[in-house]
Amino acid sequence: MDIAGIRKLNDWVQASDNIVFFGGAGVSTESGIPDFRSVDGLYHQQWKYPPEEILSHSFFERDPAEYYRFHREKLVIDGVEPNRAHRKLAELEEKGKLRAVITQNIDGLHQAAGSKKVLELHGSILRAYCSRCRRPYSQEVINHGEGVPRCSCGGVIRPDIVLYEEPLDQDIMEEAVRYIRNAEILIIGGTSLNVYPAAGLIRYYRGQKLVLVNLSETPYDSYADLVIHEKIGEVFSRIAV
Ligand code: OAD
Repeated sequence: MDIAGIRKLNDWVQASDNIVFFGGAGVSTESGIPDFRSVDGLYHQQWKYPPEEILSHSFFERDPAEYYRFHREKLVIDGVEPNRAHRKLAELEEKGKLRAVITQNIDGLHQAAGSKKVLELHGSILRAYCSRCRRPYSQEVINHGEGVPRCSCGGVIRPDIVLYEEPLDQDIMEEAVRYIRNAEILIIGGTSLNVYPAAGLIRYYRGQKLVLVNLSETPYDSYADLVIHEKIGEVFSRIAV
């Protein structure tokens, strides 16, 4: 355990009321959701097509039945609960110390833990809408139904997530940029920082307290003021609120 690193992070957190968190799949692994790029992650499993291809806009249009087979088998994990990292972030917000959580995750676990200001860069698996008329649908039809869910207009119902080849929501990106630009402390956790444009958000941070909490190394380790290579739930459980 990196005790010195965690102590420093805790000192910084205690002294600040302007913390922003930016995270990815590694925040949810301790809840039992595999990440994408670790050796046992989603991208290392055998499937007829590479997951990056199945999770793309053109694949969804071409073969929605195969997309939904993958979606229900791999993206939907029933019974997951927020872990210590999600819960600590919610507590820090409640105490007025944390301004926003910016996440690449689509699992809704930050909100389930009680976080209010959550910017979902890649959308949420808990929302759905018709790809033709945009009528909203409940998550049940996409996550627990059978076959390809269809709207009464005949269009295919899709999850409200950002697929590969699709642009991110500009309003959410701009809001994320504003929070990061004005943050005193930016804590980045559980993300390989490999996927753009999300990973590029780091460049908007102007402060002196950039913290990276990630099990493995990232391309941005040398930019950070503090790097902790530990499990994020373990690290956050040692932060006082
Ligand atoms: P990755 O799977 O690329 O990275 C997860 C990172 O979390 C890895 O570097 C792990 O070492 C680390 N990690 C795993 N468990 C951890 C733990 N308990 N504590 C700390 N670190 C841990 O996932 P993302 O960076 O989120 O996009 O991937 C970004 C995007 O790629 C996803 O949003 C998704 C994917 O394709 C789309 O679907 C559009």
